[in-house]
Amino acid sequence: MPNTPAAYVFDAYGTLFDVHSAVRKYADQLGPDAAALSDMWRNKQLEYTWVRTLMGRYVDFWEITQQALDFAFARFPSAYKSVRDDLLDAYWELEAYSEVRDVLGKLQASGAKTAIFSNGSPDMLAAAVASADLDDVLDASISVHRLRQFKVVPSAYQLVCDEFALQPEDVSFQSSNRWDIAGAKAFRFGTVWCNRTGQPDEYADLTPDRVISDLTELL
Ligand code: LAC
Repeated sequence: MPNTPAAYVFDAYGTLFDVHSAVRKYADQLGPDAAALSDMWRNKQLEYTWVRTLMGRYVDFWEITQQALDFAFARFPSAYKSVRDDLLDAYWELEAYSEVRDVLGKLQASGAKTAIFSNGSPDMLAAAVASADLDDVLDASISVHRLRQFKVVPSAYQLVCDEFALQPEDVSFQSSNRWDIAGAKAFRFGTVWCNRTGQPDEYADLTPDRVISDLTELL
């Protein structure tokens, strides 16, 4: 890592919050395709962010999250569709990974700024942060919403520098999404890939500065 980080900035979904916790809550009702539905929901959600940004046709992350779930239900017709609204409600109060609160608190106590930087709309992020009781261990929740473009456009990562008046090299950015790490590295952030699920590496020209398996390794 080039500099001692002045700010530790975290991707939200998949990094701080477990996106699959919504489906897990209703797994019994959803049936045997529950896990596949959850993966499809997440994959389509991400695809829509990239495609809409390339087209210049932004709709916010909440709208995208709903459209992606509807596709996933259409793709897995055996899944019990009556829980659609329950799944969407659960997305506003996703479980945080168990180490998150402690790690954020300790990083903040060390004198660094702590923040979320996410595609999530501001109201989604505020709800998830409140539900996981993280308000007091975060200095900011930065959403791409005001830019109306999603990661990985460079101007999205610039929002973090603007928030804290920092250079990219002063930021340590943590994400479990390898594509997000590639975008952050291209922007010259210090990068830490939190590879929670043992995924193979990719984007060989944009390597993370560190690879960890959960956030406790930051301490
Ligand atoms: C986010 C998603 C992409 O929080 O994980 O930005």
